Amino acid sequence: MLKLIKRCPQYVDGYREYCREMYDNHIVYFLPVDPKNIDGGWFERTKEWYDKKEKGLIEGQSPSLHFWAVDGDRFIGEFQLRTEFTEKVMTDIGSIGYAVRVCEQGKGYGTEILKQGLVIAKEQGMEKVLLTVNDKNAVSAHVIEKLGGKLADKMQAYNDVEGEHILRRYWIYL
Ligand SMILES: CC(C)(COP(=O)(O)OP(=O)(O)OC[C@H]1O[C@@H](n2cnc3c(N)ncnc32)[C@H](O)[C@@H]1OP(=O)(O)O)[C@@H](O)C(=O)NCCC(=O)NCCS
Repeated sequence: MLKLIKRCPQYVDGYREYCREMYDNHIVYFLPVDPKNIDGGWFERTKEWYDKKEKGLIEGQSPSLHFWAVDGDRFIGEFQLRTEFTEKVMTDIGSIGYAVRVCEQGKGYGTEILKQGLVIAKEQGMEKVLLTVNDKNAVSAHVIEKLGGKLADKMQAYNDVEGEHILRRYWIYL
């Protein structure tokens, strides 16, 4: 059964494998940590940074909650929730980031991560979340629409120089 849990040392090896798969498969829609940086001391080294992010102590950034998705002892993916609608959230990264490791995609995990993530967002007091999706990311758009996403508009991404990086913005009301 899939669960969203707080980051913890027990699943660091799985997290590294997930990041490695994302890099090796050139997944561009969600960029996790570079697996080369995840060594034995990585969890402790980054803990304070993630704690600060969660408490909203990083200047100019929305508070950001990070969860890992696991099924038993298997690492499946991740879920991130940004609880404030900053300029960057509205025009770039959205309220939510989610991903499933490449070898576990297409088995229903992405849908389940987003579904459980929406419950967390509601528990955080949010009434709606914004999801920004690359216009070419048909799988994620499908999952978001299945879970109630309403297309608000499409906009050019801030880093789009060739007019090809279009973002769909979806609201999900909780
Ligand atoms: C998006 C992502 C999380 C989905 O995870 P997943 O585990 O593969 O998703 P699920 O198996 O729950 O659902 C996939 C759905 O897409 C559908 N689908 C598959 N290929 C599709 C396509 N080319 N076009 C539209 N829908 C498609 C499947 O039929 C399934 O829908 P269904 O349950 O109604 O049949 C995963 O592909 C991923 O990690 N992608 C890279 C990171 C990313 O894009 N994150 C989201 C950023 S907004």
